[in-house]
Amino acid sequence: MSDEQGRTRGREYSPITRRSLLKGAAVATGALAVGPLLQGCGAAGPTTSSSGPIKIGVLVPLAGVYTGLGEDMIQGLELYLESVNNEIAGRKVELVKEDSEAKPDVALTKARKLIEQDKVDLVTGIVSSAVALGLRDLFDSTKNILVISNAGANAVTRDRKSKYIFRTSFSNWQSCFPLGQWAFDNVGKRAFCSAPDYAAGKEDVEAFKESFVKAGGEIVGELFPPLGNNDYQPFITQMQQGAPDLVFSFYSGSDAVRFVQQYEQFGLKGKIPLVGPGFLTETDVLPQQQAAAEGIRTSLHYSHLLDTPENKKFVEAYQGKYNEVPSVFALQSYDAAQLIDAAIKATEGNTSDKDKLVAAMEATTLTSPRGPFRIDPETHNPIMHVYLREVQKVGDGWGNVVIQDLGEFKDPGA
Ligand code: BEZ
Repeated sequence: MSDEQGRTRGREYSPITRRSLLKGAAVATGALAVGPLLQGCGAAGPTTSSSGPIKIGVLVPLAGVYTGLGEDMIQGLELYLESVNNEIAGRKVELVKEDSEAKPDVALTKARKLIEQDKVDLVTGIVSSAVALGLRDLFDSTKNILVISNAGANAVTRDRKSKYIFRTSFSNWQSCFPLGQWAFDNVGKRAFCSAPDYAAGKEDVEAFKESFVKAGGEIVGELFPPLGNNDYQPFITQMQQGAPDLVFSFYSGSDAVRFVQQYEQFGLKGKIPLVGPGFLTETDVLPQQQAAAEGIRTSLHYSHLLDTPENKKFVEAYQGKYNEVPSVFALQSYDAAQLIDAAIKATEGNTSDKDKLVAAMEATTLTSPRGPFRIDPETHNPIMHVYLREVQKVGDGWGNVVIQDLGEFKDPGA
């Protein structure tokens, strides 16, 4: 498939792609081998200079269920940096990429390596909520800056918020709470919920239930298959037996591809409407889902079809460089790069004083392709609009057409 609106290639989740992405890394050694050594070093405080190249650690999964998300995040980051000639405040920018495998223990080892061995100036990335929760104390205690460009774990910008952690993506509450009321008003009164069995899955279901039940809706069942699941048939059968008016599901990456395909294969498509946060049908998975995703309605703070001059410019540049349309993961990472660029410029290239960098980030306002967007200085989480989208045929491909702006949403915080 290749067209103006649809993505030109699907994600393969292959180790070949992973290797090629790591190839461009300045330093990307097997961090597992250095793990025990670093663990013995104790906590390291910020360790960087204000001259020479700026080193940005990029910690994303390049293996497993969320590989496509990690790849898109690298692409979004590199697109922005290329637009500033890979230079910030007169200093060259060097990326040090590491594969988190979306596993908290692996990610912790790699984050320590980035901080202690590579001496990066700051770190960005992080796809999984479980990984974000596992890294929180390391960054907080060592006063190193982490700009999360996906993982939505609520606590990271609530009761476990840190002065040194920012998020350019969303909280899990933010991507699902707005959908509950809308689904009650527009789809049905009895919902079955399903999501992978880890922090993000649990928080997404809770956020949807919060507004759906408050509106008067009833939850008729909940299921939490393992993350990285192949066979959804037993779960889909139970959903059918619950006879709901609608199914609410959060899946992403290869889980989203399989779930949506099997929802059609086992006969629920067209009979029980499927809704969820937009990751379910985002542009990283839509080329593989194709017609199986038609009609699915999702809530998200982005669609590559958003009709604004800023977004059109972003989509055009992204398509020009990568021959595919951007996903929300690429967008969030592009905005992380914008935030990092603005803050380092504001400190005139001084990356050593982390408190100054934090203050600069708190004061930064960005023009995001997603529309009105600012970072809440209280929580370091975005305040932004959430859109209701529907998968429709667009050109000779598929796209998430924006059918309603659900309004501006700010995570409630602690
Ligand atoms: C998460 O774990 O927070 C997450 C993963 C994939 C998509 C969205 C959220």
